[in-house]
Amino acid sequence: MRPLLATIDLSAIRHNLAVARRCAPGRQVFAVVKANAYGHGVREVVTALHDEADGFAVASLEEAAEVRALHGTARILLLQGCFEAEEYAFAAQLQLDVVLHDACQAEQLLAQRLSRPLAVWLKLDSGMHRLGLSEAQLRDWHGRLQGAEQVAELNLLSHFACADERGHELTEQQLGDFLAVLDLDFAQRSLANSAAVLTIPAAHMDWLRPGIMLYGASPCAELSAAELGLQPAMSLTARLLAVREVAVGESVGYGATWVAERASRIGTVSCGYADGYPRHAPSGTPVLIGGQRVPLVGRVSMDMLCVDLSDLPAAQVGDEVQLWGAQLPVDEVAQAAGTIGYELLSKVTARVPRRYRS
Ligand SMILES: Cc1ncc(COP(=O)(O)O)c(C=O)c1O
Repeated sequence: MRPLLATIDLSAIRHNLAVARRCAPGRQVFAVVKANAYGHGVREVVTALHDEADGFAVASLEEAAEVRALHGTARILLLQGCFEAEEYAFAAQLQLDVVLHDACQAEQLLAQRLSRPLAVWLKLDSGMHRLGLSEAQLRDWHGRLQGAEQVAELNLLSHFACADERGHELTEQQLGDFLAVLDLDFAQRSLANSAAVLTIPAAHMDWLRPGIMLYGASPCAELSAAELGLQPAMSLTARLLAVREVAVGESVGYGATWVAERASRIGTVSCGYADGYPRHAPSGTPVLIGGQRVPLVGRVSMDMLCVDLSDLPAAQVGDEVQLWGAQLPVDEVAQAAGTIGYELLSKVTARVPRRYRS
């Protein structure tokens, strides 16, 4: 078997959910499990959080159906709402909570005869300018939807653009815009993603929506997951397949982009970009062998990557290699590769076997 494995620690995910609860006592929690639970496996994560989360948040009806099959009673929030009018009937059947982010979705909902009314979350565009109603539209639709036969409950939701950057002025403004519509009658309110759960108590409202923090990566640039008390859930481990000596002036990998400036010992690792390791990770990106960081060298290939073992003479073929995980935070690798932990975790591909620890 190819030596590459993503080991998922489900107790770490439960621990991280407990951290969210401690930050915001008494609030309810939608665990964000879209994109296959950020790459961790939606079946296993929903099962692990079955009795811990009050609800789950997903990006599509297909994802919602998968979660509903695993949990008969939890609230399931469709973060972008329905994409087509025909989806509302199924959403009602699955007893989903649906977001309405524009007039078209609201009109489509009002045109339905549903088997049961839906819990509706009006989405305010408070400054992210991606999805959502303006304040005027929101006030208008609040009036038209209140009491409609399709609506069981009318709720308010918005999303931060910069909550991960401490003290960002847009966050203040977004929070202000959210508070400004609370004169309207809403059953439930939700604003906080992971960064806001961890650092902005005024944004906690009724329902938290933590995603990345559940998986043990940091949503904040200046605060590490460890500093936030989070435990990494995924360890991506491979093995050293080969070790060779490379003379000064010789190159490693496609394009011969890395050239040895000293006589070097090069190790070849069983993980590549078709597994989800970022191809654009530059030479120098840390990789962990025997508890020590060694630098990636040369271009990442489809199934392999190379590291410089010159400062780790004991390393040999067969040694375990950690690409990220318990001892090498995914955020550190992401930073070196010019991306974020979210992308690395959610892009671990299907060919990487997942092993679960409960
Ligand atoms: C609307 C919404 N809420 C909550 C989240 C969770 O965010 P995070 O993973 O930063 O906690 C997301 C993630 O993209 C989202 O789109």
